[in-house]
Amino acid sequence: MSARDAMLSRLRKRKPATPLDREFYCTQEDYQVELEMIWYRDWLFIGHDCEVSNAGDYLTVQVGEYPIVVVRDREGGLRAFHNSCRHRGSRICSAVHGTAPRLVCPYHQWTYQLDGRLIAARDMGSGFDKSQHGLKPVHCTSVGGYIWICVARVAPDFEPIRKHIEPYFLPHHMHDTKVAFESTIIEHANWKLVWENNRECYHCAVNHPELCRSFPEDPAITGVEGAAANPRITSKWAHWESIGLPSKFHIAGSGQYRTARMPLVEGTVSFTMAGNAAVRRPLSPSIKEPDVGTFIMFNYPSIWNHIMGDHASSFRMLPISPTETQLTTKWLVHKDAVEGVDYDVKTLTEVWLATNEADRRICQENQKGVMSPAYEPAPYSPVHENGVTQFIDWYASHLEERLTEGQRGNPLAAARR
Ligand code: FES
Ligand SMILES: [Fe+2]
Repeated sequence: MSARDAMLSRLRKRKPATPLDREFYCTQEDYQVELEMIWYRDWLFIGHDCEVSNAGDYLTVQVGEYPIVVVRDREGGLRAFHNSCRHRGSRICSAVHGTAPRLVCPYHQWTYQLDGRLIAARDMGSGFDKSQHGLKPVHCTSVGGYIWICVARVAPDFEPIRKHIEPYFLPHHMHDTKVAFESTIIEHANWKLVWENNRECYHCAVNHPELCRSFPEDPAITGVEGAAANPRITSKWAHWESIGLPSKFHIAGSGQYRTARMPLVEGTVSFTMAGNAAVRRPLSPSIKEPDVGTFIMFNYPSIWNHIMGDHASSFRMLPISPTETQLTTKWLVHKDAVEGVDYDVKTLTEVWLATNEADRRICQENQKGVMSPAYEPAPYSPVHENGVTQFIDWYASHLEERLTEGQRGNPLAAARR
């Protein structure tokens, strides 16, 4: 049986509202299928517009086997390319961030324009056609100051995602921000365990004393059920929407992305140890109130996000191997906020640095236990872990849909044709 068929068979036998079988979390075969069916097919959040504001600014990222470079071209557009030279394949840009007037391969100095055209290749003979050796493009778009790429030959339609999330982002003026600090950690855990951990706060009270100062442990806030029936949340939504901030919980029919603005612990306005703002200068000049809760978004498989009145943080997840996941966190503040005057990095970052470190430890221990041949999971808590059930249901249905594309009797595949 092929790895794909074996995975499909296990998906179809899975118990509802229960963690997956061990193989899903640790085998190279399943991981490769996930790369091909999910990570190489879906739109992935990569970084922020403000990181590539000027012509020649670039950022690089590794998506599975694909090194990618995202660059701002001379016309102000965003472009993404496979970061692999068309001569003998060398990676062209190796820094995480950089600025260059042209993209020059370090091996034999083939030189590419910012739009990917090959403009110089020394001594290649008279028959060599430079126009046939430009960088290979990768789908790239941005919404609300957040950049997404897709390495598939044909990308899924991004417009439904844009239409859903853009109204929530626009009032926060995320184009006018800068990254005040970023951290990248490797968690020795499967990427789905990292998501499962993120999608519940059953573990928060004991493991996250820093986060719990301002983030409510209430399942109506952390899960995917009950927010619309909670009077404190709905009265906040009504107020925030009255001042022009889309706030209501809204989840895509596919379950792949969700937006909501959620209240923080009463009396707190930001993720700091004291619960007060970390940044004196607000993110957006049009938002006068300090307490706008936190705008939360996830888009599987690569981003979750918070935006408060004073700053934002984005969390980008990328798989490294079946049991390793890279998590990059960026703290964004107004572009004119001055370090040491308007904010200090320690106050800005200490809650999420501590939270990420605790989650890394939790996920790594989770991975170690799941690797045991004796691993036998119980159902998720219907009260605290409905968000995890939602993630696993999305994963299973998304993967099953991809694995059965083109097969007779698959109604989802038939609907797309
Ligand atoms: S591999 Fe890039 S110039 Fe030779
Ligand atoms: Fe956590």
